[in-house]
Amino acid sequence: MSTAAATSCSLENYLVIPDVSMDDRITAARETLGQHAVILGHHYQRDEVIRHSDFRGDSYRLSKTAAESKAEYIVFCGVHFMAESADVLSRHSQKVVLPDLNAGCSMADMAEIGQVEDCWEHLVGLGLTSDAGDAITPVTYMNSTAAIKGFCGERGGVVCTSSNAAGAFKWAFAKTPKVLFLPDQHLGRNTAFAMGIPLNQMVVWDPYMPMGGLTADRLRSAKVILWKGHCSVHQRFLPEHVDKVRNLYPGIKVLAHPECRWEVCQKADALGSTDRIIKLIREAPAGSKFAVGTEIHLVNRLAKENRDKMVITLDDSGCLCTTMFRISPQHLCWALENLVEGNVVNRIVVKDDVKHWARVALDRMLSIQ
Ligand code: 13P
Ligand code: SF4
Repeated sequence: MSTAAATSCSLENYLVIPDVSMDDRITAARETLGQHAVILGHHYQRDEVIRHSDFRGDSYRLSKTAAESKAEYIVFCGVHFMAESADVLSRHSQKVVLPDLNAGCSMADMAEIGQVEDCWEHLVGLGLTSDAGDAITPVTYMNSTAAIKGFCGERGGVVCTSSNAAGAFKWAFAKTPKVLFLPDQHLGRNTAFAMGIPLNQMVVWDPYMPMGGLTADRLRSAKVILWKGHCSVHQRFLPEHVDKVRNLYPGIKVLAHPECRWEVCQKADALGSTDRIIKLIREAPAGSKFAVGTEIHLVNRLAKENRDKMVITLDDSGCLCTTMFRISPQHLCWALENLVEGNVVNRIVVKDDVKHWARVALDRMLSIQ
């Protein structure tokens, strides 16, 4: 395959080109690749990128789409852990491309596999579970490395996303009396609390403290052990922001992503994954007002797409996910034009030994709604 537009496929040549000239080139490369490629876009991607995606969705929907896709190339406009999961779920012959390898996730970086193994050894050492996880089920949020997903899979655990975290907790509690939830303490706390588990039955494991900063007794009495991780984007939303928008706009509904802190989620009208937030706003009657606690690109898009309603961000200082933002139209164009030339750039490959157990944990997740 070749395209007249692809004169040189070195990234440096693309980064100096203005956004406006990217659309036609991306469209041309996309057409040339035809069914050989599929472009997946997470809702937090900027408009100049997401408009080129064949499928857009939340983490759950995109991992399902990746698992069902038959395209040879899966170009993932999202962050590293999403591309890794797509590689784990895809067939051997498929190749996953992340247009910018710097598109990581600071929350996923808050749990390293060595730290998680160390935590688990402590739990086994205290006699709270066997190594196989017969008394504690490890549950990891999608926003974690493939190594951690593999760790959970091997110990009878599961992956979840914000759209099926409650289902994953129920699944886990049907097997064991305790859950270790990685790496987002907020999603874990919000989900467990909504299921009726009081806050005093949850503890937070700090990987930088001896024995997680906890006593054996605290660990013994806890039902949920939360990892000390968070999303810095969603931590910016505060309970006072909820009070402020309610005072300014009587009748406004506050929607929050469950990565927001518990105090915000308690004050919100509804919680949801990015897909659920979109659905709630789309299906609301004209004239409805919403303040949304999630990434700013999605909130701005929702405002544009729902002009008969009012949609504002919960915190007007603008909560931007800088790593999602790394995927620029230039990076997308570069990746696609390279594919046209037969070069697979920025391929994401999960090692085979990790892949097996990560797949087990992801397949379990896909069976939970
Ligand atoms: P969703 O699963 O809701 O798409 O969320 C992913 C994410 O990274 C939110 O910060
Ligand atoms: Fe990670 Fe937060 Fe960005 Fe989501 S919004 S990708 S959790 S840093």
